[in-house]
Amino acid sequence: MTSTHHLGEQGTSRLRSHVAGELERTRRRSAALTDAVDEADLVRQHSPLMSPLVWDLAHIGSQEEIWLVRDVGGIPAIRPDIDDLYDAFQHKRCDRPQLPLLGPAEARGYVRTVREKVLDVLDRTPLEGRRLVERAFAFGMIVQHEQQHDETMLATHQLRDGPPALVEEPTPAAPADAAALPLEVAVPGGPFVMGTSTEPWALDNERPAHEVFVDDFLIDTTPVTNGRFLEFVDAGGYDDPRWWSAAGWAYRQRADLRAPRFWRRDGDRWLRRRFGHVEPVPPDEPVVHVSFHEAEAFAAWAGKRLPTEQEWEKAARFDPRSGRSRRYPWGDEDPGPEHANLGQRHLRPAPAGAYPAGAAPCGARQLIGDVWEWTATDFLPYPGFAAFPYREYSEVFFGPEHKVLRGGSFGTDASACRGTFRNWDFPIRRQIFAGVRCARTPAPDEIG
Ligand SMILES: [Fe+2]
Repeated sequence: MTSTHHLGEQGTSRLRSHVAGELERTRRRSAALTDAVDEADLVRQHSPLMSPLVWDLAHIGSQEEIWLVRDVGGIPAIRPDIDDLYDAFQHKRCDRPQLPLLGPAEARGYVRTVREKVLDVLDRTPLEGRRLVERAFAFGMIVQHEQQHDETMLATHQLRDGPPALVEEPTPAAPADAAALPLEVAVPGGPFVMGTSTEPWALDNERPAHEVFVDDFLIDTTPVTNGRFLEFVDAGGYDDPRWWSAAGWAYRQRADLRAPRFWRRDGDRWLRRRFGHVEPVPPDEPVVHVSFHEAEAFAAWAGKRLPTEQEWEKAARFDPRSGRSRRYPWGDEDPGPEHANLGQRHLRPAPAGAYPAGAAPCGARQLIGDVWEWTATDFLPYPGFAAFPYREYSEVFFGPEHKVLRGGSFGTDASACRGTFRNWDFPIRRQIFAGVRCARTPAPDEIG
């Protein structure tokens, strides 16, 4: 794939400083997540669902070495002996603490050495002419990879026992109009362009752009709140198989689910544990830590359903005035703090209705940031999909065992979140920062 538009010398140096800035910003986040706890804590497994934090750190360095030092840079391997230890396909998370992993000091030294070499590689690599480096793609892929592991490490922090270790800024209050927002907004039927062929750092599974016809639908204006989810709990929703799929009900029985993960009943109220704080469940905040099965059961109880992935992306990107799909709900500009709750600035979702400046043309809010939103759709390739740069990025995960999540959470970085970005996970997953937004098909006389 060659580009017809050349960067030029100035364009190249601007792109190089952008990449260097993103690498640096991302590394500060990884350092904050791993410096927040002591060495014993770094090597401990806080949950069989997760790796020790020190595994994630060295794995970040290992992927950066493999792609940017060896492949892009053509430099001999620094630590070929550890490739296998940090290959996520070789060892399940629950087995990783038993491996002869690099210790905290060694892991920190290793990622530093890799990064020094990568900055040299960045300085001398033309950022066009070869698809892997076109518009700095491989660097962007590595930035996103590190940010994704930072979100995973954030989930490990949430699973960790003990006092709060992370700092955060207070979350914004809901705007004055939040209470008056319509519960749902309508998206009229018609075609729209889904996916992208132009976003330079988009990953293979977001490509290519293709037209999709979507029928009329209604979608919730905001993610489902704790208060609303509590109505489902109080109505006995967890005990009524009518609302659950067969697989969902089997899981609910097996895992003895009664409420979102990290909730605990305390007399007549519910408390939740959030990064070491125990606090009453805030009713106005989007519910988080629910599996696909719980999201689906809630939607059925509410007389609705989960949106398909196509519906979600159309609600988030389609601008009926121009007929175009935007990069983000609010337009084409990169996310700013006024648009969305992203990047671990806050360690919780913002109240439902927050971020009016981030609203989509259809009126839906908080599609980007706050909580990942489960969709009804299996993770599958788009028509014309081609694996790049390797099959293990997405292709090996395609199939009905994974459901698509959209929109990112408060723990997702802006660089790893776009209107086209697709996340996927098992339908039983609860430790991720996932919530619910419902949709429904209108009755025949509802949309004019
Ligand atoms: Fe990874």
